Amino acid sequence: TDKTSQYTIGFSQCVGSDLWRRNMLDEMKMELSLHPGVKFIYADADNSSKKQIEQVTQMLNEGIDLLIISPNEAQPLTGIVEQTYSKGIPVIVIDRKTSSDLYTAYVGADNYQIGKMAGEYIGANLNGKGNVVEVMGLPGSSPAIERHRGFSDALSKFSNIHIKAQVYGDWLKNNAQKQLGQIKPDLKTANALFAHNDVMAGASREVLNSLRLNQHVKVLGVDAMPGNGGGLQMVASKIIDASLVYPTGGKEAITTAFRILNKESFAKENILQSLVIDSTNVQLMKLQWSKINSQQKDIERQQSLLEEQQQVYNSQQLILNIIVIT
Ligand code: FRU
Repeated sequence: TDKTSQYTIGFSQCVGSDLWRRNMLDEMKMELSLHPGVKFIYADADNSSKKQIEQVTQMLNEGIDLLIISPNEAQPLTGIVEQTYSKGIPVIVIDRKTSSDLYTAYVGADNYQIGKMAGEYIGANLNGKGNVVEVMGLPGSSPAIERHRGFSDALSKFSNIHIKAQVYGDWLKNNAQKQLGQIKPDLKTANALFAHNDVMAGASREVLNSLRLNQHVKVLGVDAMPGNGGGLQMVASKIIDASLVYPTGGKEAITTAFRILNKESFAKENILQSLVIDSTNVQLMKLQWSKINSQQKDIERQQSLLEEQQQVYNSQQLILNIIVIT
């Protein structure tokens, strides 16, 4: 039997309700199902750094062998992550980072690179000339900081492109729309808008449409998720012009967790690849996802078949035992 089955893994998620993070959890569960018996404790901090600290503290009290965490904001979560690590409990940081390098492994894409690719895409698409608006994520969360830096660096190479306005949408639809309502004059002269995620990109398009600016402004987002309301669907239906793939890393986090627990070799930095999805490649990407989806269904079917066979086997064992006894 699997020697990892006695382990308890805690997963502290900064927020669990959006499509991207539901996808992350699904990937984790898929990978966890290959390690039957492992205990998995999941906590959703609902966008609150305070709540997330409390939840990790509770996990430490209950006893975990390894912590996976996506820190809501970098600074506030640094202390508790360092504390966990110093206790000798391995920590895998996923997607968002702390402000410290006291962690066992990191899994996620390069957010500086993602911001840079967004800037380069806009620069090329506007032929090096125009006005840009940036809708940023939650201040203090590492992807917002890094995407912003990459974006500014890329656009600084285009002397005729100007960032006219920057607002914080905190990764959320309502907050993004509220902030965009404050900068209507900038939206009217904008040629492109970069939102740090697809949720805010879709929200931005609604605001632009309400101002009757739909034809003129190119809208970019990040995540490129499959499924209802995801970025791929928005690109395919031309609600947004492009999205950058942001892999959730759910599967990689779990495989790394077991490598650490089993004392096998592992990489400290596990950087996942990104790319731009627009009208030229969105169909290909959708096709790939539906293939993965059907393969996952096959695996689930195989698993329930295995369980059935195990039950048949168990009941046969029982009959055999009875025969021997009587
Ligand atoms: C989901 C999300 C994604 C974004 C990521 C950044 O909660 O907002 O849309 O890419 O978090 O951490």
